[in-house]
Amino acid sequence: MSDNPTGSAPRSTPAGQIPVSSNNPCPFLRALVANGYVGGHVVPLGTLTEDIGLASGKTGVKLIGAKVAAYGIAMIANGHPLRSMTSGAILDELRNRPLDKHGAGSRILDVDGNVQLDQIDRFATFGRDYANPDGGTERGLNAAEIKTFMAENLKRDGDKARWTYPIMMQGEWPILLDILGKGEGNARYLSVADVRTLFVDRRFPKRITDRLPPLG
Ligand code: HEM
Repeated sequence: MSDNPTGSAPRSTPAGQIPVSSNNPCPFLRALVANGYVGGHVVPLGTLTEDIGLASGKTGVKLIGAKVAAYGIAMIANGHPLRSMTSGAILDELRNRPLDKHGAGSRILDVDGNVQLDQIDRFATFGRDYANPDGGTERGLNAAEIKTFMAENLKRDGDKARWTYPIMMQGEWPILLDILGKGEGNARYLSVADVRTLFVDRRFPKRITDRLPPLG
């Protein structure tokens, strides 16, 4: 499973999880769907932004900001803002739509929904060992290292990268660091182990699920 060092991780659905469409390329949304927090098809923007807001752990003005940003992303994601606003985002129809960068991202998730483990290893090479607030050290990437990682992803895509991609990318890895990261300030890092669990096992760490509504 997730400790297979090479190749792609098997596309099995762990017991108790809901299968997720390969046309949903967002690791964060995939985990929300797999664990039943939101449905896998049409999800009203209010439901989606509510759960993203809860997962963020933010309160007050920062919570409003996180929800507004998520609403904006979800509204344009399928290429039909009005339809998304009235009926919801279609989470299994996100490929080849406005947010799909066609390979200019991490390439951890391929077009068939398989996780490429060598791309997680590549992600790890951009980081270093950080003091884990829970004890010991672990490999992770802070904000500056994530910036370098994203710049290298764009460079790898060469001429195919569009000018809009760097803007879209701001709503992906930096937000994941914000939500999932550990530590504070420059030492706040996105743990490679947590990223692996998110992509391969489609699971959030307990500190995130504790913020989400209990599953019935
Ligand atoms: C807090 C909320 C969110 C977080 C933390 C998040 C995080 C991410 C991350 C880390 C990636 C992977 C990029 C890569 O592989 O390089 C991604 C991709 C993507 N996300 Fe999200 N996301 C969030 C919300 C959303 C929402 C609301 C939508 C739309 C409804 C969305 C749609 C996408 C799409 C379409 C991609 C694929 C981009 C590509 O392959 O180029 N995400 N997201």
